[in-house]
Amino acid sequence: METNEIPYQRTLVFSAAIRIFHWLRVFSIVTLALTGFYISWPFLVAAVSSDVLIQGWIRFAHLIAGFLLCAITVARFYLFFFGKSDIERRSFKDLVRVKSWLTQLKSYVWVGHLDKTGAYGPLQLVVYMAINFVALFMAISGLVMYANVYHEGLGGLLWGSANWITAQMGGLAVVRLWHHYLAWAFIIFVVVHIYMVVWSSIRFKHHSVDVIVSGYDYQPVKAPDNKN
Ligand code: HEM
Repeated sequence: METNEIPYQRTLVFSAAIRIFHWLRVFSIVTLALTGFYISWPFLVAAVSSDVLIQGWIRFAHLIAGFLLCAITVARFYLFFFGKSDIERRSFKDLVRVKSWLTQLKSYVWVGHLDKTGAYGPLQLVVYMAINFVALFMAISGLVMYANVYHEGLGGLLWGSANWITAQMGGLAVVRLWHHYLAWAFIIFVVVHIYMVVWSSIRFKHHSVDVIVSGYDYQPVKAPDNKN
């Protein structure tokens, strides 16, 4: 019997842990970018009476989202290297293969198709690793500034290392400046990331947006060659 239905195969790409951390990271980075740039330019202060602690609440939100990002950054480094699913680690194979780099770069200018071993192409892996290290820097510099304001509890515990890092970086003003400069890396990353995910979803018909929500990719099953 003939049928027009095409059978699709469902493949699990991202584990629940990877997806949950992805969306928590989205939440924390958006909050941190909005509140962070407000802290550096508190434009609402003059417009309202001084007993409304706008700056205080915004700083409080920045710190809560900041501690969330610190926790996610540690958990994601662990998952990347030691998680049960090796879908991300497998991409390392492509990182050291010149052919994989050429295949990816060519596919971006519409020559050939992307062929990758893990979840990411080599260029994508390098960019993700870089943004993870930027997140690590933001966490460390944020904690250094935190310890310079709060001298008890966690701040007190971190004081020794925070003091050392401050000295190595040339003073607290420099720490603050780098924390501010690298905030821009997230703004640029988010814009390019969203564009690339949607573009590659359409270009390669791998449901890149769906996989980070449901975890699954759906591909048509290729019919075996009919030799008769
Ligand atoms: C995506 C990550 C982050 C972004 C985009 C971001 C952005 C910013 C920006 C733009 C500022 C203002 C700097 C200035 O005065 O010019 C700031 C300040 C600050 N950030 Fe972050 N931040 C991030 C992560 C963190 C983390 C993880 C922490 C750690 C808890 C943190 C703690 C702080 C502190 C303590 C300040 C200083 C607040 C003050 O001066 O009162 N940030 N952040």
